[in-house]
Amino acid sequence: MAFISDALSRIKPSPTIGISNVAREMKAAGKDVIALSAGEPDFDTPQHIKDAAIAAIQRGETKYTAVDGIPELKAAICRKFERDNGLKYKPSQVSVGTGGKQVLFNALVATINPGDEVIIPAPYWVSYPDIVSFAGGTPVPLPTKAEHGFKVQAADLEKLITPKTKWFIFNSPSNPSGAAYSHDELKKVTDVLKKHPHVWVLTDDMYEKLVYDGFVFTTPAQVEPKLYDRTLTLNGVSKAYCMTGWRIGYAAGPEVLIKAMGALQSQSTTNPSAISQWAAVAALDGPHDFIEKHNVSFKSRRDLIVSMLNQTKGIQCPTPEGAFYVYPSCAGVIGLTAPSGKKDRERRGLREGVARDRRCCSCAWRGVRLLAGIPYFLCDIGKGTRRRRPPHPALLR
Ligand SMILES: Cc1ncc(COP(=O)(O)O)c(C=O)c1O
Repeated sequence: MAFISDALSRIKPSPTIGISNVAREMKAAGKDVIALSAGEPDFDTPQHIKDAAIAAIQRGETKYTAVDGIPELKAAICRKFERDNGLKYKPSQVSVGTGGKQVLFNALVATINPGDEVIIPAPYWVSYPDIVSFAGGTPVPLPTKAEHGFKVQAADLEKLITPKTKWFIFNSPSNPSGAAYSHDELKKVTDVLKKHPHVWVLTDDMYEKLVYDGFVFTTPAQVEPKLYDRTLTLNGVSKAYCMTGWRIGYAAGPEVLIKAMGALQSQSTTNPSAISQWAAVAALDGPHDFIEKHNVSFKSRRDLIVSMLNQTKGIQCPTPEGAFYVYPSCAGVIGLTAPSGKKDRERRGLREGVARDRRCCSCAWRGVRLLAGIPYFLCDIGKGTRRRRPPHPALLR
């Protein structure tokens, strides 16, 4: 009898967390490291949020709480959805968890049965397919193209929907591409989803506040109210409020789903940290002016790095509309000769060359450590690249 469960064998440790741990260990060993791997702002949590947490500790808010969130936080979340997204929810439609990742995990594990398919536009955040697989479902990548700004095309989505499709996971602005859908672009996607009432929509709006150049954020249930009854709108305080370590994420959707997620959480973490929940109330209720200031920095860093990458031979980098990632294509360096004199003749590119034995990347010899694009599902970066999985059969129809 195997000791490790079959469910666990379907997932891999998060590669992004893995490379962040390497950086942390190197720093602890006294090395001078610039770590860009973790998706977290370098700004500190704003003082008024810290003060709310300290006040909560002083008041003795240090006990177990309601499983899926204190009433005060649920009320603040309802206010946030109405204020920012024009979406009305009751507190009973809201679930708070230990980070957006737990909320996502709860939603998928609480609803997926063996054989259920989950469509995930690619490139995607590394955790989506693994959580789907862990839950016993089948992740169905929907590759997008650079020429479309890495955004889903309605016809491609239509082709992938089958009677087994349970969820469509949507993420705008996207980790890792930074692609963000305008109202009209999103409407084309929701028009397809509207026609398939058995498909639920899980929209991960984690990067809602991190948008640039006047971009106006919208979310599926706002753009298409007919999807409200089968949409889970997920968000959190990690990114916009610089609170990655506080571990608070939340979602709102139909009560039947929220109840199921709560049941699962009651048998895992019980409730998110009481102190962090009080801090999240302060975060969501404001002030919010620091977000705009942070975005000025994120934008200037984005512009600098995009322009530097585009000055590099063989690298092409589109300008992301949101989040704090860039998604450059390295297709042009595959097959080139590295300063060490070694050539990546086998065209395995950065995966073999850098991640495994650090041979081919032109900068690996200078002490740069890279995570290859494979776990994000490589898309349309030119010849010589491979997809992690073959395209879903429906794509070939
Ligand atoms: C797209 C996306 N969703 C959700 C999360 C999870 O955020 P957290 O669990 O810190 O709230 C992340 C974190 O990197 C992310 O990139």
